[in-house]
Amino acid sequence: MPIITWSNDLSVNIKEIDSQHKRLVDLINELHDAMSVGKGNAILGKILSDLIGYTKTHFADEERIMQVNGYPDFSKNKLEHDKLTKEVEEFKNQFDAGKAVVSIEIMKFLKNWLSNHIMKSDKQYTQFLNSKGVF
Ligand SMILES: [Fe+2]
Repeated sequence: MPIITWSNDLSVNIKEIDSQHKRLVDLINELHDAMSVGKGNAILGKILSDLIGYTKTHFADEERIMQVNGYPDFSKNKLEHDKLTKEVEEFKNQFDAGKAVVSIEIMKFLKNWLSNHIMKSDKQYTQFLNSKGVF
């Protein structure tokens, strides 16, 4: 069962960004499914690495789009991205060191981590970027 379900509420009205956010939703659900059926740490670690890798790609793309279009809150969003990246990386380091496990608390954290990113920061650029012709 998915822990996050994509809905229009999560749309930022920019095609490429929406599809990247959907991929992040899929990766979090994939991790949740793997955890639920008791998959081993090798598989969980692989999905976590994919999640971190894709997060970095996504943030870099978003930063490029914001910068190219002169988004006024670029610096604020960049700081937020750096913080979010650090949070998942720290978890992955603890996981690799055997000091953390993928649990329902971690899944809830990741769910909120992604929803907050989309709902609180990304949704704020929709109007500005749409007004620049970015859809
Ligand atoms: Fe985003």
